[in-house]
Amino acid sequence: MVKILIVYHSQSGNTRRMAEAVAKGAGEIEGVTVILKRAFEVMEEDLIDCDGLVIGSPEYFGYMSGAVKDLFDRTYEKVRGHKKIFRKPYAVFISAGNDGLGALMHIEKIGLGYQFKKAHQPLIAKGPVTDDILAQCEDLGRTIAAGCEAGIY
Ligand SMILES: Cc1cc2nc3c(=O)[nH]c(=O)nc-3n(C[C@H](O)[C@H](O)[C@H](O)COP(=O)(O)O)c2cc1C
Repeated sequence: MVKILIVYHSQSGNTRRMAEAVAKGAGEIEGVTVILKRAFEVMEEDLIDCDGLVIGSPEYFGYMSGAVKDLFDRTYEKVRGHKKIFRKPYAVFISAGNDGLGALMHIEKIGLGYQFKKAHQPLIAKGPVTDDILAQCEDLGRTIAAGCEAGIY
């Protein structure tokens, strides 16, 4: 089975709803196991074991949430250079009040450090999470899961 890890942090539920929609889309692909975890629960083995990774963060103070940064801080040295991290397909989604670009930019910079491979355009939701945003999240999940299952990345 191909494993897709969806990792997120959320305080008021917006990023969580997006993460659940990504998980729903990914779960529609046959041969794919979806793992949905909060950032504080993710360990380096989770990053190594998955075949594709989707990272969701709220934007707080123009940056990713502390929990998502904590995940990077805890795991970077442990997985750096690992052959199962190099060019791991990944995608990012952000929930923001009105911006989201700061959080996205910093996550993508760190993604370069890990040498992840961007497999899908980032998704930024501004304001309340709408049905349209959730549909885009499902589509993101479906696309990255199908791509990983087909081995196209
Ligand atoms: C402490 C804090 C800081 C925030 N800073 C920003 C910000 O810099 N830019 C922005 O667009 N929204 C900002 N927001 C709004 C959140 O990004 C937005 O409410 C988001 O949907 C929260 O996601 P969550 O429900 O998953 O926690 C902030 C919210 C909080 C609580």
